[in-house]
Amino acid sequence: MLPGLLKTLKQVAASPLSQATTMPKEIYTSPIVLDHETQHIFSKEWICVGRADSLPKIGDYMTVEIANQPLIVTRGKDGKLNAISNICLHRGMVLAQGRGNAKKFTCPYHAWTYQPDGKLVAAAFMDKTECFDKSAMRLPQARCEEYLGWIYVNLDPDAVSVRDQLSELTELLEPYHMENYVSIFEEEHHWNTNWKCLTENFMEGYHLPVAHQATVGAHFNLMDTEFDERGKFDHFTYQYFTKKDSAPVGTAHPANTWLTGKWRSTSIMPTVFPSHMYVLAPDHLWYLALLPDGPDHVRIRYGAAMAPEVLEAWDNPEAMIADTKAFLDDVQEEDRAVVEGIFRGAKAPMTKAGPLSWLERENHEFTNYLARMLCP
Ligand code: FES
Ligand SMILES: [Fe+2]
Repeated sequence: MLPGLLKTLKQVAASPLSQATTMPKEIYTSPIVLDHETQHIFSKEWICVGRADSLPKIGDYMTVEIANQPLIVTRGKDGKLNAISNICLHRGMVLAQGRGNAKKFTCPYHAWTYQPDGKLVAAAFMDKTECFDKSAMRLPQARCEEYLGWIYVNLDPDAVSVRDQLSELTELLEPYHMENYVSIFEEEHHWNTNWKCLTENFMEGYHLPVAHQATVGAHFNLMDTEFDERGKFDHFTYQYFTKKDSAPVGTAHPANTWLTGKWRSTSIMPTVFPSHMYVLAPDHLWYLALLPDGPDHVRIRYGAAMAPEVLEAWDNPEAMIADTKAFLDDVQEEDRAVVEGIFRGAKAPMTKAGPLSWLERENHEFTNYLARMLCP
């Protein structure tokens, strides 16, 4: 089944946008496709796992699982982030759960204990084991880089650095100084849909005036959507959009003197393939970082951050932060309804591929990315 499906995917990707359709529905529902994605995408690509300021102090850690590999991302004594395997070197128990601050990680099974850099420092009753050399044992590491305030992890030791991979995007992002934005919340959600349904949903603005008419859709001019005419990029796509004057947020604060003219009300919406999407406005950003959990569930890291000058302008920003979160939560619920809905559609026997609008150009670029990564 897989070779035929990938052949169709390649054909869909090769069509010009005016003839482009959605991907074959089995691309969303098949466990074989997910295995293939695990091997050719999630084991090789830079995966965003959240904002770097969510781990501000030495010893702060978070756990994440990428391509069946549980990892602990920690801030080391040198202030740098690193990602170590979250699997004990003894009999393979998972070491840590959730997030927190730790000077060491002790396995809950037989108490082997590791430093945050992965070095094994304690293992009781191993003195008679000849094939055991404590000083030589260390948890394997994944690549981990901080990039403009984001944490990116990659299981491929030979991957190009994320900064080099995204250099063309970096030029577009730098004027916003998003590395200084301060996180206001970060949560993990679990939805009943394939991860690609949510990636595609976030990328396109076509649904905003309809599915989000009660929230963001009211402040958005679809005809002002601006795509990059330079052509396709291998590792990301993006669009610019401008907020209407009625929008309560999305424009530069008076203390922001570095953005001028139309840039004071222009947001950029990048998707870093495969699964990191955000809206970056002059005053705030909000994001999703996705990981598949089977073909039919997605794990979503969802959060927002604000420009420091916006937060500093408030004596008491808590109420404003709560309002912002409530608004974004409503947007998320609206998206949840449609992305769980289209996943039901992908499983329905009568469903066939549907034609795309020119406003869904980024969905077609995503199809092309998947075809490049998955097809022989
Ligand atoms: S599996 Fe971790 S100490 Fe035994
Ligand atoms: Fe949406």
